[in-house]
Amino acid sequence: MSEHPVNDHIDNLLHERRVIAPPGDFVARARVSRGEYDQMYRRSLDDPDGFWSEVAGELAWMTPWERVLDWEEPHARWFVGGQTNVAYNALDRNVQAGRGDKRAIVWEGEDGEVRTLTYAELLREVSRAANALTALGVQKGDRVTLYLPLIPEAAVAMLACARIGAVHSVVFGGFSVSALADRITNAQSKVLITADAGQRRGSLVNLKANADEAARSAPSLEKMLVVCRADCGVPMQPGRDVWWHEALAAAGDEHEAAALDSEHPLFLLYTSGSTGQPKGVQHTTGGYMVGTYLTTRTVFDLREEDVYWCTADVGWVTGHSYSVYGPLLNGATVLMYEGAPNHPDWGRFWQLVEKHRVSILYTAPTAIRSFMRQGDAVPGRYDLSSLRLLGSVGEPINPEAWMWYWRVIGGGRCPVVDTWWQTETGAIMLTTLPGAHPSKPGSAGLPMFGVEPAIMTHAGEELGPDDGGLLVIKRPWPSMLRTIYGDDERYRKSYWSEIPHVYFAGDGARRDADGYVTVIGRVDDVLNVSGHRLGTMEIESALVAHPSVSEAAVVGRPDEVKGECVVAFVLPQSGQQVDPAALRAHVSREIGALARPDAIIVADALPKTRSGKIMRRFLRQIAAGQPVQGDTSTLEDPSVLDRLAATPTT
Ligand code: WTA
Repeated sequence: MSEHPVNDHIDNLLHERRVIAPPGDFVARARVSRGEYDQMYRRSLDDPDGFWSEVAGELAWMTPWERVLDWEEPHARWFVGGQTNVAYNALDRNVQAGRGDKRAIVWEGEDGEVRTLTYAELLREVSRAANALTALGVQKGDRVTLYLPLIPEAAVAMLACARIGAVHSVVFGGFSVSALADRITNAQSKVLITADAGQRRGSLVNLKANADEAARSAPSLEKMLVVCRADCGVPMQPGRDVWWHEALAAAGDEHEAAALDSEHPLFLLYTSGSTGQPKGVQHTTGGYMVGTYLTTRTVFDLREEDVYWCTADVGWVTGHSYSVYGPLLNGATVLMYEGAPNHPDWGRFWQLVEKHRVSILYTAPTAIRSFMRQGDAVPGRYDLSSLRLLGSVGEPINPEAWMWYWRVIGGGRCPVVDTWWQTETGAIMLTTLPGAHPSKPGSAGLPMFGVEPAIMTHAGEELGPDDGGLLVIKRPWPSMLRTIYGDDERYRKSYWSEIPHVYFAGDGARRDADGYVTVIGRVDDVLNVSGHRLGTMEIESALVAHPSVSEAAVVGRPDEVKGECVVAFVLPQSGQQVDPAALRAHVSREIGALARPDAIIVADALPKTRSGKIMRRFLRQIAAGQPVQGDTSTLEDPSVLDRLAATPTT
């Protein structure tokens, strides 16, 4: 735990007073009204068994649960004894309900190619993939790593794993060879599903080449299933590599979904923590299914005729819960777009909205701020009248960006839901329901059903209105993570030990007199760069692995577009020159381009206490170009600070 202050750049939030009421016609048709929210929320806390039984009962179970919750802190088991299947609920159930011919996935590639899969087609495709995985020897409980572009096959592969009870672990396609190898090895995956290449800004991203290299240092790997996306002639290793289309063509298109225990693991998703290696956050079947189902329907006010677009890649939790599972469980039509938001130009998102008549758009503040910079004229060229609801996720949204999103993209007629949640929480935890609550730009809002948040001090004292403190959750919820894969001790330590008997989120927050929670930012050594979580330690260990660097300290610096950017202080190895360009390339190779430092400061010393601890607080101030404030007397050599402040940044 570091001495991380609340992010100063969010300071203006403290002075934000605007309140935006939802439009009257939205309120009139809202799925959940103000009164219904109050009543449902109360019931979810007072009678959780009754509340969650009703929600879970809307989905199909092969065996009914015996108890709603077993809670032995910090381990929860939800819908105990029940058996179900998430893919069955997302596909077979919707086909049976008459949605067979409804579009499930509408996909557009960066080059403009469009592919559509109805629920019936998606069910057949997933069934084939499930049969193909089984034929490859994948069994219930086996981990399967996915390293794919954002193409329909990514959703098909996830659902196929879910169908047979294999545990998927999706690794974002922008991660490097060694990040991929580490994740395959940690999960002990025998099978990797990848593609020859993806497309990004007109060029090819050579996933298969990375996968081949990763396989050399991932001994658990036995088979590679390769989607032919770009048809770019990649080498296939006989005995190991199998083409996806060949494997699926050889497989039958009928498959009976496995009846899985409610607590059977559904997926692992690696995310950054404050220390060491990324952790494999483990989610399970029943609770995650119920949580994503309910939140998608209520937060996005989902209706049969909606075209729903969450812009997140499936490599992140938002892509899991709100590009794939949540909307498909609700029988929605999901738009998926493979490419960059600025390809061929900054109008691409708006062109997609116009062309596909998108009605619900869910994206990240970083994207919104980038669009804002391009000016109102770009979206102004497109017909955005199909939009009726906007969402934001992944990082704090500053009120200016919120207002721009609401005014320019939403035309002042679409409610904006700012949703706070985490990889670990599985589903949205805090937001305003669009037809029930007014929005306060910059504040995520109120707890979702069953979520009991509090703002506490480190000592576990609950704070009153407007006091800044640590955001915690006071009771278990269905879609919560169950453990860190292979490291239950780390699970206990990271989430349930910081403050006794509550879930510690790692964020700083305030709650106002109306109960609206404003999340300010991480209080641990996790950075949030463009909505992506990065551990400072991970980047530091990548830096010191370079021969020219002897020591490194990484901090975040407020950034107008990315929210936060990476600043690295490095000490050269004696007799060596640090080449910033080479160092950036090195970090890209070690972790991925998203971790590349924006600024590198080559220093001769770091501010350390006498016991050797680096005082990052001072580094953050220097990185932000602010005067150093605070007690410097514990430093071994306070003069380091002046020298650092005078050092040029590269
Ligand atoms: C941050 C992404 C403010 C927060 C779903 C959290 C937010 C971390 C918001 C989780 C929001 C996410 N307002 N901050 N609406 N949403 N965060 O695991 O710091 O990639 O702890 O999950 O993002 O990031 P993760």
